Amino acid sequence: MTQYLIEGGSKLSGEIEVKGAKNLVLKVLAGCLLLDEEITIDNVPEIGDVLKMIEILKSLGAKVEKISHGQYTVCAKNLAQTQLDTKLAQGLRASIVLSGPLLARLKEVKITKPGGCPIGQRPIDMFLAGFEALGAETTEEENSFIVKAKKLRGANFIFTRVSVTGTETLIMLATLTPGKTVLKNCALEPEISGLVNWLNNCGAKISGTGTPTIIIEGVEKLKGRNLTIMPDRIEAGTFVVMGLLTESSIKISNCEPHCLEIFLAMVKKTGGSFEIGSNYILTKPVKKLKATDLITHEYPGYPTDLQAPFTLLMTQAEGTSLIHDPIFEGRLFFTDKLNQMGANIIMCDPHRVIINGPTPLFGKKVDSPDLRAGITLVLAGLIAEGQTTIGNVYQIERGYENLVGRLQQIGAKIKGT
Ligand code: EPU
Repeated sequence: MTQYLIEGGSKLSGEIEVKGAKNLVLKVLAGCLLLDEEITIDNVPEIGDVLKMIEILKSLGAKVEKISHGQYTVCAKNLAQTQLDTKLAQGLRASIVLSGPLLARLKEVKITKPGGCPIGQRPIDMFLAGFEALGAETTEEENSFIVKAKKLRGANFIFTRVSVTGTETLIMLATLTPGKTVLKNCALEPEISGLVNWLNNCGAKISGTGTPTIIIEGVEKLKGRNLTIMPDRIEAGTFVVMGLLTESSIKISNCEPHCLEIFLAMVKKTGGSFEIGSNYILTKPVKKLKATDLITHEYPGYPTDLQAPFTLLMTQAEGTSLIHDPIFEGRLFFTDKLNQMGANIIMCDPHRVIINGPTPLFGKKVDSPDLRAGITLVLAGLIAEGQTTIGNVYQIERGYENLVGRLQQIGAKIKGT
């Protein structure tokens, strides 16, 4: 699909099921390169980023097979290639996590410099510093880094800034590195625990996950163990905002509400209403929302990936709110598209906006700048008067499976062309 056409104003109802977590499955697929045995992965979301990661795994010599919808097997017995295909890797930021397993298995990896991306510059300085701490040497070539290690050994390393993929990459490298590695100032995201639990099941010796200090005792080899991907907490939170914005009662099923504690607390603060079950959230229509300030933070703080939907929610709340997203420098520029649709949002600097609400929104033709801003424009279209056309939807389909079909099922007037 290239664009979505949305007719705003419909009430939604029924149930929408959350798919597997994008930011876990991409790391597990990379982690499969640590093993020479076959792994079966269930609840794999059928999204653009996963298909791209699978293509990269195949280009490196791994065998990947689709067994059924959402079920794949991966076997990296014949892993041979140390170079990430430039074009494929540049299309997927998460490909950087492959550098850990490749270096661990083949003692060498060539990483193409990731370009800037719509949400920020996204440097890899801490990855390179971590590799060097564990004994690798890095050299810079025209547009890439060559990382080689004659001998890797466990070491202490502190992240100068909390990084999700940085933490995951160094955990995977240290898993097969002889000796003890101590990583400090690690990210605490639940997807990292998901990855570590699976690696430990395969025989890795990793402790401290979910705390800032992670200790890894290197092992010689891992055994193939299957896993099921946990539900995507960002998708679940996005659907909660969709229910509130459209003043609809929708059941968001197959999710883990305990991973969304701060998000749900913030929604409550705005006056939003919902019921929580062990694996579902049911939104309840409310007439009035209160303007509420937001600051994003690494887990367990408010996720930057749910900043854009909250920003949109505040355009429908009474009063003035300040949204501060210090994590990436490009995640608030999409607000000019909300302004084109009728919002009143003032950008203070790239990290902060002030929103005056409530303002009605009107259908417009807008392009999706990135994944999370893109889904937010879809939600804006659902409450806008008239027709909204969203272009560049490949950005949205990178992370949301069969979005059009699933939204149609709960009554949204959306179609893809
Ligand atoms: N940073 C550095 N140097 C590094 C690495 C990171 O300065 O070597 C900076 C980044 O520029 C950023 C901050 O550290 O300002 C935090 O970035 P982090 O490394 O944590 O981000 P990431 O690992 O690249 C993952 C998710 C993002 C999510 C962030 C924050 C994946 C594939 N991506 O990115 O997800 O926003 O953590 O939680 O796991 C998304 O799903 O839409 C998405 C962008």
